[in-house]
Amino acid sequence: MDERAYRRVPGTTIFDAEQSAKGYHLNQFCMSLTTAENRAAYLADERAYLDAWPLREEQRRALLARDLNAAIAEGGNIYFLAKWGATLGLSFQQMAGSMTGLTEAEYREMMVRGGRPAGERLDHAVLEAAHAAAPGGPHASVSAALFTSHVPAIGAAMDHRKTQEPYWQPVFAGYEPTRQWAREHVPDVVILVYNDHASAFDLSLVPTFVLGTGASFPIADEGYGPRPVPEVEGDPEFAAHLAHELIRADFDLTLAQELPVDHGLTVPLSLVFGEVERWPCKVIPLHVNVVQYPVPSGARCFALGRALRRAVASYPRPLDVQVWGTGGMSHQLQGPRAGLINREWDAAFLDRLVEDPAGLAAVPHLDYVEQAGSEGIELVMWLIARGALSDVDDGGSVTEEHRFYHVPASNTAVGHLILTDHGRAAGPAEEE
Ligand code: DHB
Ligand code: FE
Repeated sequence: MDERAYRRVPGTTIFDAEQSAKGYHLNQFCMSLTTAENRAAYLADERAYLDAWPLREEQRRALLARDLNAAIAEGGNIYFLAKWGATLGLSFQQMAGSMTGLTEAEYREMMVRGGRPAGERLDHAVLEAAHAAAPGGPHASVSAALFTSHVPAIGAAMDHRKTQEPYWQPVFAGYEPTRQWAREHVPDVVILVYNDHASAFDLSLVPTFVLGTGASFPIADEGYGPRPVPEVEGDPEFAAHLAHELIRADFDLTLAQELPVDHGLTVPLSLVFGEVERWPCKVIPLHVNVVQYPVPSGARCFALGRALRRAVASYPRPLDVQVWGTGGMSHQLQGPRAGLINREWDAAFLDRLVEDPAGLAAVPHLDYVEQAGSEGIELVMWLIARGALSDVDDGGSVTEEHRFYHVPASNTAVGHLILTDHGRAAGPAEEE
């Protein structure tokens, strides 16, 4: 089955996540032309205005040549390009007509006669060859899942060189085996499930699931200045594939080309990889809203993890992928009940995460809040990472490589687990 048959409709380019990633700066440039001031600046000195944008040479050339077909091939979207066309004084009909090989008069005349019939053969249509055949070689797969708390004070302890102080020493000692394991198991890509903590998203936009499709992600300033850690490098092509597959599987993700990442994402990277000049692998952020209710259920998160596994397995490149779940364990950061810790509940959560994830996924939010504290709800994100491992009900098995638990780090019970996957790989053809 060819999931992207839309690419073979003649004379047509469907604007998907891949095109969007390719045309991001081009389309953002077009958006800049929605103010009179910018339009005037563009018309006054076109080249200088374009030079201020990080466009590829092909994109710059397409604009200077007024070649909308080339701009679309380069990731431009017609609604964005229309802002550019409007700046040049073009109507939608003039723009559309300019792509057909007809003169303006011929195109207008064709429309007056009733428009182009759906079955018409386009003699000048160029079929996109690039995606014609799905390569039959090795595919990507999820080799391990890693789970860890993401307390900001842990990052601060590293950044301020306090890891050997008596308070912090036992926390970092618990991650020593992890550092060793991570050196021996550097993946190509980590899909890092975390929640943004009012850093990238304020209350003007509250998306439930956000996939980072950009090429890089800057470190957010959470009020103390950005952490002194490397920028995070993404994988736009793989992320676009995941977006396509997950949305096709009815998970309506929000896609973020620009996403400053906060402690939820950087503290796990620091804990696992230590102090580095560059992170050793690419990272695709997957943000989950757990700040403003309603937040997604454990069952929804687990199902998303399952779908993520299938989406990874259908990517026709041999990538070694890890999925990390972050946040938790028990903690409450607010109100008279702040400081709540529940060791028994946390221990049972870890056991069930390994042995009975589908059962654990049925636990309602209220249990998390009552038993693990209001911010303990972050643990639902761990179910996404667990769902991305092979299915125990389907003969799959996982190995517990490492487990660690410690109270406290700041207000939180630190929990950590590494599971590697030995189960039968879910093939791309498998359906739920
Ligand atoms: C703390 C823990 C968190 O998970 C978080 O996001 C912020 C603070 C804490 O324990 O201080
Ligand atoms: Fe948190």
